[in-house]
Amino acid sequence: MTGSKFHANVSSGSAAIVAAQQEEPARERRFRELSTSERFDWLEKRGLSKEGRAALEEKLKAGTGHGVDLENHATYLMMSCGILPQITVNGVPRAIPMMTEEPSVIAGVSGGAKIAEKHGGFKSTTSRLTTAGQVQIIDVPQDQAELLVGRIREAIPALMSIANSVREHTKVLAIMPKVIETRTGTQIIVDYEADCGEAMGAAAVSFIGEVMRPKLKEITGCDASVAILSNLPLGRVVVCEATLDTEALASWRPVNGEKVPMSGEEVAKRIVHLSAWSEADLFRAVTHNKGIMNGVDAVAAALLQDTRAIEAGVHAYAAYQGRKTGSGYAPLSTFRLNETGDLVGRLEMPIAVGLIGGAVETNRAVKAFIEILGVKSARELAEVCAAVGLAQNISALRMLASFGITSGQASFGVDMKKRAALLRPKTDA
Ligand code: MEV
Repeated sequence: MTGSKFHANVSSGSAAIVAAQQEEPARERRFRELSTSERFDWLEKRGLSKEGRAALEEKLKAGTGHGVDLENHATYLMMSCGILPQITVNGVPRAIPMMTEEPSVIAGVSGGAKIAEKHGGFKSTTSRLTTAGQVQIIDVPQDQAELLVGRIREAIPALMSIANSVREHTKVLAIMPKVIETRTGTQIIVDYEADCGEAMGAAAVSFIGEVMRPKLKEITGCDASVAILSNLPLGRVVVCEATLDTEALASWRPVNGEKVPMSGEEVAKRIVHLSAWSEADLFRAVTHNKGIMNGVDAVAAALLQDTRAIEAGVHAYAAYQGRKTGSGYAPLSTFRLNETGDLVGRLEMPIAVGLIGGAVETNRAVKAFIEILGVKSARELAEVCAAVGLAQNISALRMLASFGITSGQASFGVDMKKRAALLRPKTDA
């Protein structure tokens, strides 16, 4: 377009814009700008039935949410929270609040907790408590990459002092640059690890990476483009062990409609075979791990923790361990008979949870749940979550090794109907 034509178009264009603005019908309001009843009208226009609307409005009236309403909030969908009355973790008997849509989880954890009780319950340890972050540096000349990594290493004290000047409770402990080859060329990734105190630290760690970016650009002369935490928290690995009571493992098998008893030794032997199966087969390992997460997620959800971060970390860790063993994805727990013939379960998994920040501080029910739990630190909370995961796992494997999932769920289903009748005169499916 020539200059004169352009100017002519601009001047006639601006007059047209003004005219169009005067004539323009009001823009349709965004969902978040609508009142509550307008939101339901909007949903009705898009297919929500009158009955559906009534159900969602009823849930909205009954609910108080978790303290932070979502963008485009419409209603609340309440989930039942229950209490696991007792599990002993590191010698301390604890009651555990749990939230899940799966009715059998608390009963399962409770069964697993009892089987471990005779030998002192669950022993959990955490080596350290850190959150990992990464800065990406792109457009790195391949032949300069190692030299630039060397310069970053020399500048670690300076980077540390920048990083540690911005957040009182988040301190970077280590900075570890590495070179990676990618399909878009050579990159330098600066891994770092921070102590976040009692917080999970996702936001603080990402922020610290952003604060280090200009210095990394200055050091390398390359584009330090992105900073973000890593959801593989190798600095939050909990190891939890329990020795199981052989008598309490005793169970039954359905044979021609009859319940045939199984000794504890028999069940223990089958659990060891199940454990070996999950070590050798990805398709079994993932289901084994899902059983563990039935317990862990239910505690984390009741405390409004970031369950997606926990899940991401756990499955990445299973892959990380699987790389070492060659299976590609490892079970988080293993079961072996010890020298006295007792079955010992050992769980190893990262659990990214925090006791400050987010809903933990703003939601009164979550504060009450933490009182019930009696945990005083993020470390203790992670250790309790691991014990609940192992207890759930023990119970699932005992069921699979004996009466099986169909009988297990069927008997539980009958039980649940009785309980529901007692607990909920006003049904609310
Ligand atoms: C079901 O929610 C969990 C199980 O599948 C776990 C397992 O197979 O180990 C029973």
